[in-house]
Amino acid sequence: MSVGKDVITYLAENDWLNENAKRWGTKIGARAITAGTTMTELTPVVQKLNYAGLSTTIVYLGDGLYEKAGALDVKEQYLDLIHLIQEKALDATVTLQLTQLGLDIDFDFCYENVKEIVSEAYNYGVQVTIEMEDYGHVQPSFLMLEQLKEEYDNVGTVIQAYFYRAEEDIKKYKDVPIRLVKGAYDEPISVAYQTKEEIYTNYKKLLFEQLQNGIFTSIATHDQEIIAEVKQFVQQREIPLDAFEFQFLYGFDQQLQEQLVGEGYACSVYVPYGEEWYSYFMNRLAERPQNITKKVFNKKTN
Ligand code: FDA
Repeated sequence: MSVGKDVITYLAENDWLNENAKRWGTKIGARAITAGTTMTELTPVVQKLNYAGLSTTIVYLGDGLYEKAGALDVKEQYLDLIHLIQEKALDATVTLQLTQLGLDIDFDFCYENVKEIVSEAYNYGVQVTIEMEDYGHVQPSFLMLEQLKEEYDNVGTVIQAYFYRAEEDIKKYKDVPIRLVKGAYDEPISVAYQTKEEIYTNYKKLLFEQLQNGIFTSIATHDQEIIAEVKQFVQQREIPLDAFEFQFLYGFDQQLQEQLVGEGYACSVYVPYGEEWYSYFMNRLAERPQNITKKVFNKKTN
């Protein structure tokens, strides 16, 4: 089965489908890559991953919000999530998107929401990662990180290797835990590398500097060439295996995750849950249709 990327992207952004998908529950194969819509469904998924030796980072799904009430609901959801992690002794951190917590409404309002989450997480020993969104949100996200890290040491962020500014940012924030990704949004040539080769090269450059300098990094990529090169790099330089972790999206490359854990590497899984699963599912489908169509139409194949 082959579906055009543009068609899938159009469907991902369709308001009617997004709204109705909430009523359907995680059907049409979405359950293979999300942990359901509620914390009750989420808990056994995380426990199963933990049991297999994988740590997790949990994400409450949703798009950017423009009304304070919605952003406050998201904040409450994260506070409940932190309590759940503590009560069930889950091996889990949380990952959040600032536009869900009001970044597009008002910086200070968003800051107060995020600070409450980070502070509660700090009390319970839970790590928080601030995701990076499109270029327009990058600078305010770093500003928020800077304010938070003055008071808390349990907050880290994401560096997107496709941005020219990534090299400067990764050096500037060497005292916070970094999740290194390639970058998922369409960005212009004025701010970002465009070709696969350029992005791949910059990703490796930034990553190897981090590893060489002993800065803990979450290597968030499904790129098996990079994973193989990391293994070689750390073996040759005798870099300890607890100096980094590999990070994967839930539902993808499970065999590889198990293999890496078996070899002694730390692996963490990005586990999304929540009612707003539809656009996440469709966006993953647009990125890599073959993965999901396999999961939907032939559950035995993985
Ligand atoms: P890429 O698309 O470059 O493909 C390289 C190779 O990897 C392909 O040849 C293919 O074989 C394989 N591959 C790719 N995707 C796969 C999949 N899903 N399953 C199996 N194999 C696959 N972006 C962002 O802008 N901000 C953010 O905060 C985050 N956060 C984030 C967290 C985590 C845990 C992950 C894994 C990714 C993100 N991303 C992100 C997304 C990231 O920027 C990037 O778009 C995707 O990871 C795709 O890049 P890769 O390096 O994984 O593969």
